[in-house]
Amino acid sequence: MNERSTLSTGVTPRFSEESLRQIEVIFQRYPADRRQSAVMPILHLAQREFGGWLSRESLDYVAELVGMPPIRVYEVATFYTMYNLKPVGRYHIQACTNISCWLCGSDQVMDALKRKLKLAAGQTSEDKRFTLAEVECLGACVNAPMMQINDDYYENLTADKVVEIIDRLP
Ligand code: FES
Repeated sequence: MNERSTLSTGVTPRFSEESLRQIEVIFQRYPADRRQSAVMPILHLAQREFGGWLSRESLDYVAELVGMPPIRVYEVATFYTMYNLKPVGRYHIQACTNISCWLCGSDQVMDALKRKLKLAAGQTSEDKRFTLAEVECLGACVNAPMMQINDDYYENLTADKVVEIIDRLP
């Protein structure tokens, strides 16, 4: 199975009442006959609510909600790296190694992260505290090199800074 394959858990999740209300608000952003356009924000909501990643069953559930063939939802979810298709640790560390970050030292940042976390890119620590990922441009090139930890961006990084950032995480 490749990195972007979908994983099955055998369990179909269900959105909370609060999330279903949010989904109705999301649908209202689009014409009534274009509910499928809401697939990306709803996948994002599903990822948040269903443990930080999207199982095959979560994707099927979203497909049903937006009225889309499941295969088309798999295509979206496997294309964008912001959707996690396997479980991630409590801290999902996404280090950008694209051109601007690379020119500004992302190699050293990545090496420091690997040494500090004792992980290779794509791995999760045994205690499920950290997942380390190497990602494409996250749109913060002006302050390269950068990384994202969960919802937060960390910019103008150096090898020393990333070690400090990891040490400060609760
Ligand atoms: S190249 Fe790293 S954020 Fe754009």
